Amino acid sequence: MSTVLILGASRGIGLEFVRQYRADGHRVIATARSEAGIEALQALGAEAHRVDLTDPAAVAGLGWKLDGEAVDVAIYNAGVIGPRSEGAQPVQQQDFDEVMHVNVLGPMMALPLLLPLVEAGRGGQGGVLAVLSSRMGSIGAMDSNRSWLYRTSKAAVNAVLKCVSLDARQATCVALHPGWVRTDMGGSGADLAVEDSVGGMRRVLAGASRADNGSFHAYDGAELPW
Ligand SMILES: NC(=O)c1ccc[n+]([C@@H]2O[C@H](COP(=O)([O-])OP(=O)(O)OC[C@H]3O[C@@H](n4cnc5c(N)ncnc54)[C@H](OP(=O)(O)O)[C@@H]3O)[C@@H](O)[C@H]2O)c1
Repeated sequence: MSTVLILGASRGIGLEFVRQYRADGHRVIATARSEAGIEALQALGAEAHRVDLTDPAAVAGLGWKLDGEAVDVAIYNAGVIGPRSEGAQPVQQQDFDEVMHVNVLGPMMALPLLLPLVEAGRGGQGGVLAVLSSRMGSIGAMDSNRSWLYRTSKAAVNAVLKCVSLDARQATCVALHPGWVRTDMGGSGADLAVEDSVGGMRRVLAGASRADNGSFHAYDGAELPW
């Protein structure tokens, strides 16, 4: 049995990670920011903590609660898409603050706290620390500027992941692209069922070794350019 930690797991991809890891008998610790989210996590048998990942005091408090845990797989899943703009149009500060706080500030506060827990994972061999990024944040693969605030935030979180990976001594830090997935964010017309996306990402995480530290992979295992 592994210990798995999912941050921002009230619905969509995060909740499906919780469901699948619990179905396989793993211990799951997960966070949500609403009471409904906490109830959804508890219904799946997860240990649930209420955390708004943009709140520094709440993230620090989670760090204290988890002190001493050895975590085999930790995933920062929370994300928001912000305005679905067509081109590179001027950005409103309120939109910038919301998207950058959830997608970038949250990981910059949480990942350094999680790294020591993950270093102790997999029986002291080092676990896997992942962030849900997006192919839309790949500068190398960028062929559209739709939702450019979101793209910029995911490019930034890719840099965050790479920076954290340089502090990892034995843990493996990876950025993940889940595919285009049928969730509230992805919409009903998306390519992939959430079960298949999460199943694929779990295979990537299970197969990740130290050679993958500081890499960017899609749910099907394909390596993506930064
Ligand atoms: N769906 C796709 O096609 C797709 C593609 C590429 C990347 N991704 C990435 O995959 C991740 C999950 O996406 P999804 O499709 O499952 O999105 P979703 O259905 O919109 O769910 C987003 C999750 O993030 C949580 N969240 C947002 N702000 C938060 C905050 N301040 N504190 C704590 N939790 C917060 C939400 O909690 P609440 O319920 O409280 O709002 C919810 O659980 C995101 O990082 C997203 O960018 C998704």
